[in-house]
Amino acid sequence: MDQNLFNEICLQQLTLSAVHEDETVAVLTRGDDRAQYASAFLWAARKLGAQAFHLRLPAPSDTTGAWAVGDSGLAGNRRAVDALKSVDMLVDCTFLLFSAEQFEIQSAGTRILTVVEPAPLLARLMPTRDLRERVEVGAELLAKAQTLRITSPHGTDVTYQLGVYPTISEYGYTDQPGRWDHWPAAFVFTGGADDGVNGTIVLAPGDVLLPFNAYVQSPVHITIEQGFIRDIRGGAGSSGLDADLLRSYIEAFKDPRGYGMSHVGWGFDERAHWHGLTQFGGGMGMELRSFYGNVMFSIGPNNELGGPNDTPCHFDIPMREASLYLDDVLIVDAGELTVPEMRPASSR
Ligand SMILES: [Fe+2]
Repeated sequence: MDQNLFNEICLQQLTLSAVHEDETVAVLTRGDDRAQYASAFLWAARKLGAQAFHLRLPAPSDTTGAWAVGDSGLAGNRRAVDALKSVDMLVDCTFLLFSAEQFEIQSAGTRILTVVEPAPLLARLMPTRDLRERVEVGAELLAKAQTLRITSPHGTDVTYQLGVYPTISEYGYTDQPGRWDHWPAAFVFTGGADDGVNGTIVLAPGDVLLPFNAYVQSPVHITIEQGFIRDIRGGAGSSGLDADLLRSYIEAFKDPRGYGMSHVGWGFDERAHWHGLTQFGGGMGMELRSFYGNVMFSIGPNNELGGPNDTPCHFDIPMREASLYLDDVLIVDAGELTVPEMRPASSR
């Protein structure tokens, strides 16, 4: 993207994130990645009268290729962590999520915005205050619920016992001290009790496996007992290829906690496309996590929610045409949001 255009969208972002005079914004990058992002955010922060600096870490030495979450590159780099704890807002262009350092920085009151997606996607899914309000309506409902149940015409029927972990909303910008968000994003989630997820999930063709950045091609039956996946197998008559890939990937981490049930929720953004993986390889998949009416469940760590599971093995799996109930009230009806205040103004 042209640098001037990139500057302008970062200015819109930092304006939504309420950056102002008397504040300091830090931008974090690793190696040679996302230098253009850093330039744009530094420009935008100065435009808003804030102080700004760019902290660049060495490139990661691990080149296994797996998406192992939690390795921030900040571990043991005390002075860098302290510098980031001292600012009002950190623009994280490295993906710190799930790391101990991110939690420490947030606890110091620094708000954090993750920005790693391709620039054209950032521009197309620019957050809005309206979208934030719709997401917050959903978050309020989720935070009050004691159970969450997902069903689908393909045979999914799984229930999460709630009430242990907080509800988190993502709407693509952040203007509150200590709060984290990811641009772009439009979804809410929480987690089930550690031993409180039971049932069956049947992935159907078109559901999305992140970080494979691939669409499921053949049905996958996942059996869940007491918060852990006990069995993954292909549907009758299918090749079982997707089931094999999923199992093989998790096994490679040699960590049984990779079979834990992680966060669960649904998406809001009618501008985000289910077919988003067909563009830029899908980037990190935020478009897929956000598309309107998707029901997303996740496998692996729940430390993001304050839970004990900090395995580096993590899947996010947005599903189409699923239905979601909170305390037996239908909230997502086969991909359609039932609460008018969660829908775009044009379809209330
Ligand atoms: Fe996730």
